[in-house]
Amino acid sequence: MPFQRIVVINGPNLNMLGKREPGIYGARTLADIEAALRAQAADRVALTFRQSNSEGELVTWLQEAGLAGDGVILNAGAYTHTSIALADAIKAGGARVVEVHLSNVHAREAFRHHSYLSPVAVGVIAGFGDRSYHLALEALLTLPENPKS
Ligand code: DQA
Repeated sequence: MPFQRIVVINGPNLNMLGKREPGIYGARTLADIEAALRAQAADRVALTFRQSNSEGELVTWLQEAGLAGDGVILNAGAYTHTSIALADAIKAGGARVVEVHLSNVHAREAFRHHSYLSPVAVGVIAGFGDRSYHLALEALLTLPENPKS
């Protein structure tokens, strides 16, 4: 596993989880998800958990994670579908990112079908509710040191 640390970065409106459209996004809060991820990470890897509604802050965190060599689990919310700046930040810092979504964005409105982030992500996990984050963590924890191996 190539990471000392994994940073979980959540974008706009994900602070509202639990209250926000629970039929789509589930009943768990972001704090619930953080606690469950910390239990999963246990002593296998250090975990940092962040959320912002501001695109610029997300850009800075993605740059920093890349430069530090940290793995990233990223749910960029609606910025997934709009933000060239986030894609550029991933490329600029060289972060290895798993893009996650609680909902299956491909089964929803057409404007959610395109992601600026998928082309610069290691992989994408969508549609498994809060389990999307756990699957992403497992994917990063089992990523080969040498991505080509
Ligand atoms: C989301 C899907 C996005 O389309 C939406 O804007 C979100 C959440 C998800 O986790 O399913 O805010 O990223």
